[in-house]
Amino acid sequence: METLIPTINRLQEVFLTVGTEIIQLPQIVVVGSQSSGKSSVLESLVGRDFLPRGSGIVTRRPLVLQLINVAPLKERLKPENGNGIKQNAQNSYPGIKAEEWGTFLHCKSQIFTDFQEIRKEIEAETARGSGDNKGISPEPIHLKIFSPNVLNLTLVDLPGITKVPVGDQPEDIEAQVQEMILSFISNPNSLILAVSPANSDLATADALKLAREVDPDGRRTLLVVSKLDLMDAGTDALEVLLGRVIPIRLGIIGVVNRSQHDINTQKSLQDSIKDEQAFLQRHYPSLASRAGMRYLAKTLSRLLMHHIRDCLPDLKTRVTVLSAQYQAQLNSYGQPVEDHSATLLQIVTKFASDYCNTIEGTARHIQTSELCGGARICY
Ligand code: GDP
Ligand code: NA
Ligand code: MG
Repeated sequence: METLIPTINRLQEVFLTVGTEIIQLPQIVVVGSQSSGKSSVLESLVGRDFLPRGSGIVTRRPLVLQLINVAPLKERLKPENGNGIKQNAQNSYPGIKAEEWGTFLHCKSQIFTDFQEIRKEIEAETARGSGDNKGISPEPIHLKIFSPNVLNLTLVDLPGITKVPVGDQPEDIEAQVQEMILSFISNPNSLILAVSPANSDLATADALKLAREVDPDGRRTLLVVSKLDLMDAGTDALEVLLGRVIPIRLGIIGVVNRSQHDINTQKSLQDSIKDEQAFLQRHYPSLASRAGMRYLAKTLSRLLMHHIRDCLPDLKTRVTVLSAQYQAQLNSYGQPVEDHSATLLQIVTKFASDYCNTIEGTARHIQTSELCGGARICY
């Protein structure tokens, strides 16, 4: 089954040739009240444990997480012209002998191959920027994660909405955090993942209130209902998940993340997803195939695919215009094609028409295949 990664990589090549970035993939921003499970959801989407999570205010600065797709290590290690494998320089990262690694903007030269160290550095940098007594700061931490198993995508983890100041927090903490959140989600290219715990009232969910402010039609808001496992005995979230309490255009997806006990006992992400599936089968059999972290990842890839499809006509026009320009120039050189620049232009023109075919092929693929069934947003 084809995943999104090769499709996007192919298109990325087109952008490089056309010399512009026409398709900007939406950045995914998680919003919700404190401890609703935002960091847990993001981590599960990336498929690696590396974010600080826990009760109370753990995320105290925005984390802008840029995922960057790189060739697998064994391909990166191959000699430059070996075996006809195309190595683009951007993708090769000579000298880095890890399959996956991370770097921070605040200490660019340091390469983190141990994801536990990445978490520690986020914690240390959070303390540097916002003190060690629960203070918050709007100054983002920028982390890049390089891996063959991720899409080129930006995810943003934000501090939770909070009401009552604690520790070093200022009196107007609520307003400050809201302003910080709004500054990220008002970007029309942001996809809002509103996270609301199943054990609190959806009608009063702050995440949805903020999302509505910037996205009144709900065109870019997806609701994630977390903590399905923590509901009072005798209650369930069925009505909420079916959209009967508050309908959400892009969908409502229930999930079960790792509990604090699971974190303390270092339960793996894989086990957590397996247990989540079992929980859903037991408690929400009619919804099990439309809930859970895996389904959330699938839904996000589908939304990204739609976004790409909407951008394709523009991209094609751009390539066609470029190609016509080159063709005109080529014609102006007249018959003798000895001129090296003319030959070069011929090649570029041929390239452009190849790329148009790639774009059309991609569009057809998106149209005809069951939209990224089985595609994963990452690994
Ligand atoms: P954030 O503050 O919104 O980023 O939330 P975190 O991801 O840090 O999670 C806060 C706490 O809630 C942690 O102790 C998590 O283990 C716990 N938690 C998050 N999601 C769930 C869930 O679905 N079920 C259970 N039982 N605990 C969860
Ligand atoms: Na928290
Ligand atoms: Mg958090």
